[in-house]
Amino acid sequence: MQDLTETGITEAVLQQMADTPDPRLREIMAAAVKHLHAFAREVSLTPEEWLHGIRFMTEVGQACTPFRQEFILLSDTLGLSRMVNILHDGRAGTVGTETSLLGPFYRDDSPRLSLGDSIAKQPGAAAGRREIGLFGTVRDETGGPVADATVAVWQTDPDGAYDLQAADPTAMDWRAQFRTDAAGGYWFRATLPLGYTIPLDGPVGRMIGAQRRHGCRPAHTHFLIGAPGYRELVTAIYYGQDPHIDSDTVFGVSQSLIVEPQPDVPGSPFPELDCVRFDFTLARAVQGDETSRVGADPSTLAAAR
Ligand code: BEZ
Ligand code: FE
Repeated sequence: MQDLTETGITEAVLQQMADTPDPRLREIMAAAVKHLHAFAREVSLTPEEWLHGIRFMTEVGQACTPFRQEFILLSDTLGLSRMVNILHDGRAGTVGTETSLLGPFYRDDSPRLSLGDSIAKQPGAAAGRREIGLFGTVRDETGGPVADATVAVWQTDPDGAYDLQAADPTAMDWRAQFRTDAAGGYWFRATLPLGYTIPLDGPVGRMIGAQRRHGCRPAHTHFLIGAPGYRELVTAIYYGQDPHIDSDTVFGVSQSLIVEPQPDVPGSPFPELDCVRFDFTLARAVQGDETSRVGADPSTLAAAR
């Protein structure tokens, strides 16, 4: 019988797991155990503190519903989703547009609209907010157009909330899917979105409060772009005037994704509107690209249970 010391316990657990047949599971679990044990040693974790942590994670699980994924939010606010994105980007076969977070508000089943449409069901309801046009081209790594790509977009309503946060979360608005034309073009109308606070009414929100973080995301429009043979691109464009552009609570912003709507943008299909032109580059698919989504449609996750 081996005496289990502060370091011997780590070795003992690794030995018990050493025959895991799946090599990747073996690697991931061994590293997780090593780092978890090192973490406990580094902070000299007390039983009371660990119970506190277990209660917190229990609450995170209990806060999940078919329309809310608190664990994704935890991963996002700890920078882990961004970390996984950075690693994923680094494995791309060719260089594409930088990725950003999917977040908890994506839905697979958004309405298919025609190029040029507004993503607001009732554009009039957006009165008081600045209507803008978004357009650009989806390209491959040579700069050539990607025709017939699916361009899914979603953003907050003029009050800074997603449809999934409404009283009836099954109702959909401020989201759509478009198909690029033969020249790889996409164009649609929206309003300038507002920055917003991530959902703070759950355990992750209490963590954010305890850390004296503001909990805000700078204004952005989400994109999920897919076409056969290419890596799915999950990204967002961020509006540079937002006061939280440099301190996003979930670490989604990159310099290359910052935009500003401008009048008279050359080639604009909406000459009457301030517009953002943003061209996306899709990277080629490589083996292991089964999904690019850190985060998911929470209602799909629930359905898959
Ligand atoms: C979002 O952009 O929708 C989002 C991303 C991460 C956490 C919360 C919201
Ligand atoms: Fe968002």
